Amino acid sequence: MNLSPILTLIAEALKIYLPAMVANATPVFLKQGKPLDLGAKFIDGKRVLGDGKTFEGLAIGLFFGTYSGIIETLVFKNLLFIRIGLIASIGALLGDIFGSFIKRRLGLKRGDPAPILDQLDFIYGATLLLYLIGVTVTLEKFIAIQVITLILHIVTNRIAYVLKLKPVPW
Ligand code: CTP
Ligand code: MG
Repeated sequence: MNLSPILTLIAEALKIYLPAMVANATPVFLKQGKPLDLGAKFIDGKRVLGDGKTFEGLAIGLFFGTYSGIIETLVFKNLLFIRIGLIASIGALLGDIFGSFIKRRLGLKRGDPAPILDQLDFIYGATLLLYLIGVTVTLEKFIAIQVITLILHIVTNRIAYVLKLKPVPW
């Protein structure tokens, strides 16, 4: 079996989604901040977004996600990555916020697991916003990044467990 087309696909998918992944991952290190919904409740009486979505998290994700796009612009000598960095970061953060909005409507508390939605909401947000500015991702890459993200999620959680940063390996 020739692995090189698969490796190329993985590399191409990571190239496009790196800023989104950085924007999604960097707010995690924040322990608390000012909630984006300012504590407000939705018509169902539950929090609009909850305490897991903060202004500080938004700022950190936007900064580092955009920054990674600037690095890519320099590395690949392609200005398109400036736009991808900014727009995919915004999309990723909005996707994650929308994910929390859905979770609260389902009655799930902050941090309660919502498999797939938790891991992939940011991918959908980033893909949608990139599409809106004319950057279309091929179906192949769109599927590849979802598989990569789910695998990365499992691997990083295991590492965090081994390092005793998490009480459970999932
Ligand atoms: N975070 C933040 N602001 C954001 C996104 C994330 O402050 N806009 C931080 C929060 O500390 C959050 C952590 O990153 O707890 C992990 O993000 P995530 O898993 O998306 O949030 P959860 O705590 O799981 O909350 P939810 O149930 O709403 O997904
Ligand atoms: Mg979560």
